[in-house]
Amino acid sequence: MLDIAFVRPSLPKSGALVLLAHEGEKPSGLWQQADEATGGTIARALEVAEFKGGKDKSVTILAPGAGLSRVIVVGLGKPAEVTDRGLNEAGGTALAALSRDTTAAIAAGTLTPAQAAEVALGAVLKSYRFDRYRTKEKPEDKPKLTKLSVLTGDAAKARSEWERDKAVAEGVFVTRDLVSEPPNVLHPAELAERCKKLTSLGLKVDVLGPKDMQKLGFGALLGVAQGSVNEPRMVVMQWNGASGNGGKKAKEKPIAFVGKGVTFDTGGISIKPAGGMEDMKWDMAGAGTVVGLMAALAGRRAKVDAVGLVGIVENMPSGNAQRPGDVVKSYSGQTIEVINTDAEGRLVLADVLWYTQEKFDPKFMIDLATLTGAIIIGLGHEHAGLFSNDDGLCQKLTAAGLATGEKVWRMPLDDAYDKQIRSEIADMKNIGGRPGGSITAAQFIQRFVNKKPWAHLDIAGMAWSSKDAPCTPKGATAFGVRLLDRLVADHYEG
Ligand code: BES
Ligand code: MN
Ligand code: ZN
Repeated sequence: MLDIAFVRPSLPKSGALVLLAHEGEKPSGLWQQADEATGGTIARALEVAEFKGGKDKSVTILAPGAGLSRVIVVGLGKPAEVTDRGLNEAGGTALAALSRDTTAAIAAGTLTPAQAAEVALGAVLKSYRFDRYRTKEKPEDKPKLTKLSVLTGDAAKARSEWERDKAVAEGVFVTRDLVSEPPNVLHPAELAERCKKLTSLGLKVDVLGPKDMQKLGFGALLGVAQGSVNEPRMVVMQWNGASGNGGKKAKEKPIAFVGKGVTFDTGGISIKPAGGMEDMKWDMAGAGTVVGLMAALAGRRAKVDAVGLVGIVENMPSGNAQRPGDVVKSYSGQTIEVINTDAEGRLVLADVLWYTQEKFDPKFMIDLATLTGAIIIGLGHEHAGLFSNDDGLCQKLTAAGLATGEKVWRMPLDDAYDKQIRSEIADMKNIGGRPGGSITAAQFIQRFVNKKPWAHLDIAGMAWSSKDAPCTPKGATAFGVRLLDRLVADHYEG
């Protein structure tokens, strides 16, 4: 991870300098000094560029003098309208312009320490790369920046704010690493192994294998897994930051997060077309997000009791694969007619959700899943679909989405949709036809929440990005880690 140092403001003698500017104001902090040292170059450049400090606007001035390699001026918009999200994006924009420098400083003198830390967070999030499998990249093509100084008056305060933000960034990177891994490397057992490694953060991690799940009666999950030579796993992660792990509170009901972890989704016997099938390596993004979230909560010693459960399978066609028409018995006892083996995520979630409510009796459950292509048709790549039986939880999630930029949009649930998944032969079938495909998927899942407060996030359109965004390089986004960390921080700690 990019190294962040908070230091008192002084004009750097070399490297790059980033200045932040509010709309209609001169850039902040060292602006005056830098402009004088470079003989007025910065003021002239901003005038030529007609730069006014608008949000998402930036100007790069190359070799301005005074030993500096470049000065990057980033607009923050109007002071009254600056949000954490906007500060993250300013940090990300700066980082994108800095990759050719070895050292750089961001002048954040006019920001509060917490705001300075948000700028750092944006820069770090943007600096993520997954280059484990590149053996031939020339050193000069790699980003050179390893250390970023944030110049701020109250460095000590900013540093303590950053401690927290850094843990969240580390959680985001855990998720991005898992989601980026190729499916031959990250099969279910490997994903479970990587969860185990997080015990070093103070998480309690238990792994269940196929025998354990057979004993419990996880017929829905195991039906999906049976076509693959790679055995399934379920991982249970616990963080007791309120009642244990340094917390002193009496044990209360935990909050619960559940993830779909299909390490590769071929569709099974209802096989998918070849074009774009490689995308289905990230069909474990729901699980990856739950794992990264738990890492973030533990990393920042969140004062909350939380559990994270992930169901991990590979959906393959084979001589032993589940057939369309099969009837399986879920852990809840309800039977399911499997009409389409490609609607596998809901089968995995069915057993893990039932287990979660039975074992932990949580305050609420939130599941995350790359569940349906239909949600991409409905909401594109701007919002995750939110389905819930709890208005309060919806409001909190919507607010956390706006604060972090990981936005959610509520979709309906209704008995009328539930009728679409009635079966002639079993308690339900696993698809409800094309109309409202994301909703019937959610109705299916709701049958396994046993009336607990619950929210389902369909992140199929959000888990992977084919283009660069201000704080997210293209590829795995880790959508949901910051959203849910914020939900916890704002409502469930202390
Ligand atoms: N993993 C897919 C959903 C998906 C599609 C995620 C595109 C990300 C991008 C899921 O398992 C699936 O195959 N869903 C089917 C359901 C259908 C058979 C009812 C779909 O969306 O087509
Ligand atoms: Mn599928
Ligand atoms: Zn899937």
